[in-house]
Amino acid sequence: MAKYEIIGGNPLVGTVTISGAKNAAVAILPAAVLVAGRCRVENVPDISDVRILLNILRDLGAEISQPEEGVVEIDCTEVTCTNPNPELVKKMRASYYLMGSLLSRFGKAKVALPGGCNFASRPIDQHIKGFVALGADVEETEEYVKLSPGPDGLHGNRVSLDVVSVGATMNIIMAACLLPGTTVIENAAKEPHIVDLANFLNTMGANISGAGTDTVKIRGVEKLRGGSYTIIPDQIEAGTYIAAVAATGGNVLVQNVIPKHMECITSKLQEMGAKIYNYDDSIRIISEGRLRGTTVKTRPYPGFPTDMQAQICVCMALASGGSRLTESVYETRFFGYCSELTSMGADIMINGKTAVVNGHPKLHGATVRARDLRAGAALVIAGLAAEGTTFVENIGYVERGYERIIEKFTALGAQIKRIED
Ligand code: UD1
Repeated sequence: MAKYEIIGGNPLVGTVTISGAKNAAVAILPAAVLVAGRCRVENVPDISDVRILLNILRDLGAEISQPEEGVVEIDCTEVTCTNPNPELVKKMRASYYLMGSLLSRFGKAKVALPGGCNFASRPIDQHIKGFVALGADVEETEEYVKLSPGPDGLHGNRVSLDVVSVGATMNIIMAACLLPGTTVIENAAKEPHIVDLANFLNTMGANISGAGTDTVKIRGVEKLRGGSYTIIPDQIEAGTYIAAVAATGGNVLVQNVIPKHMECITSKLQEMGAKIYNYDDSIRIISEGRLRGTTVKTRPYPGFPTDMQAQICVCMALASGGSRLTESVYETRFFGYCSELTSMGADIMINGKTAVVNGHPKLHGATVRARDLRAGAALVIAGLAAEGTTFVENIGYVERGYERIIEKFTALGAQIKRIED
């Protein structure tokens, strides 16, 4: 795999434009399977997870074109296959959304268990619980999940999630869309990409209400038609650039964001001493690169996102005083990057769900290895803030979720380049 070479120590200055939200795109594209007609989706990020998904959908028989940058036109009218290519499905996490969309449209699906970032055990029992409540028979092996109609057929129902799960909420929304009757998801996740998926489906003719609250209601419709939709900006990509400026120091206008989605992240960085100015669809961050320690606990939205845990940890490692970072969604996530940060001079002690971080004014360059997407992004931030040269290896993970990351950081004055091994 290629690696990044980063010469750290430059403040970041300028403007960065945020791409479409990865976690919305990887749900909306499989949701196009529900639509008999052409969907034009705009603001689609050009990242490897999206490229894999498009290949899965093409392989299923979807007609796909990309008439301009960031636009995907997808027509699943002719799709008949309900068994997506397992080799492709295993390459990413969000391919599990094909379970919900194929089940709803065709009444059956056989989908391999997903791959993707394995920073923790990532069960899908809540997705399965939802499919069963909707009347599906489920055959689950170590390799695949096979769904078919149970004795009473597929129908809407009430599903109360035992844990707040983004993936299960979205998968059950998709599965319920074309079924007769009404489905109510209780204890649903409320992330912005859930609202985005519901807005996409409603634009195509679905009847979904309550997305963004903990109770989502889906009234089944017979058919979805084509239409146009624009994906929201990526909350986590924006948060990553904001955290990078906080850590390195600098003055950056982060464009194409929804400031409301960013509050859970920016309020913490403000507490740490960064200056944040919110505009209609942009945020300016100014930081002197010297932050104060703080306390963060990750939570489902609107709490502090687990997908920003590693990036804020870098800020904590450089802050004056101590910080406490508690993970409440994926307990083992610290193991993806803390030892790498320690090799760069960070002082982090992990105690169960909490990392105790003793801030130091400097990190130093080292050769480190990305073990998942957000861990990789955090190592890039650490490299940008550190003295000397950092090599971040295994960057395939980073490129799963960050569009043109080298170009964007370079435009802000960073010294970062991609080296092919
Ligand atoms: C999504 C995001 C991921 C983010 C995570 C939490 C995508 C493609 N990925 O992942 O970037 O880190 O939300 O915000 O959108 N759980 C169960 N059973 C289930 C499902 C989940 O026990 O069936 C647990 C998980 O182990 C975890 C928690 O619920 O502890 C939340 O997981 P979930 O929200 O489902 O994460 P993903 O949808 O996989």
